[in-house]
Amino acid sequence: MEPAAVVTHVSVLDRGRELSGVVRSSESWFGAATRICASLHATPTPLDLSGEVKRFVLDHDVVVAVRAMTHGDLPDVTRWRQSEHVARWWTGAGEPTAEGVAAAYGPCIDGLTPTRMWVVEINGRSVGFLQDYRIGDHPEFALLGPDPEAIGVDYAIGDQAWVGRGLGAHVLWAWMLRAHHRFPDATSFFAAPDHRNAASLRVLAKAGFHQGVWFDAPQPDGSVATVVGCTLDVPTVLA
Ligand SMILES: CC(C)(COP(=O)(O)OP(=O)(O)OC[C@H]1O[C@@H](n2cnc3c(N)ncnc32)[C@H](O)[C@@H]1OP(=O)(O)O)[C@@H](O)C(=O)NCCC(=O)NCCS
Repeated sequence: MEPAAVVTHVSVLDRGRELSGVVRSSESWFGAATRICASLHATPTPLDLSGEVKRFVLDHDVVVAVRAMTHGDLPDVTRWRQSEHVARWWTGAGEPTAEGVAAAYGPCIDGLTPTRMWVVEINGRSVGFLQDYRIGDHPEFALLGPDPEAIGVDYAIGDQAWVGRGLGAHVLWAWMLRAHHRFPDATSFFAAPDHRNAASLRVLAKAGFHQGVWFDAPQPDGSVATVVGCTLDVPTVLA
């Protein structure tokens, strides 16, 4: 007897109305959500992809965008890095002084390193930043990560006013759509938050990542942080 096919359910919340359907074979969760809502005006973004029903929303009021960072953004990045809620978890990449931030990110902005820097805009206002890189370009991660071709990402909403308002998964999603265009052959995205960073782990789950191995990652200050490897399967979720 053949095993029963697993059916994945998707729903899209649009101005209080919930549309639902199932994911067809060879269709991603995002593909199903886009087909189900058939909207010309908004793109489905994840509300919560961690449960049995993959829940998306059409947000007509909040536009989250990701753009390349420039040197003109560095004063904002310095302020974000100095804010308590970011400094607690963003311990790498030097001191969060103007000089330290310029030294850490200037070469990335200029394309001199494999890491690319991005600014998050919400309704046109800069509120945070992300960085991404091919895992295989960072040997210390490549040894521990499951896939050297995966695209690694780190992120922070630096402006405290926008934290804790349910926008974390939208921010990741805006990056994911762009990363998928930039790296069409990448089949996984990877992030590794500290195991105590509950907000970050929850946001990754809401955006469709699943948790994998825990490992000890050496920190620039000589300490070791126990992080949780979280992977997003691009063909399943996005492609
Ligand atoms: C991680 C970050 C981007 C998330 O953005 P956000 O706007 O706070 O996220 P959201 O509001 O969309 O969601 C946060 C989720 O975590 C949950 N959460 C927050 N703090 C929590 C805690 N201490 N314990 C358990 N859950 C927690 C919230 O309840 C929410 O889940 P829910 O929607 O199911 O209720 C943001 O908090 C941030 O920039 N933090 C500082 C930098 C950082 O940690 N970066 C990650 C480095 S890997």
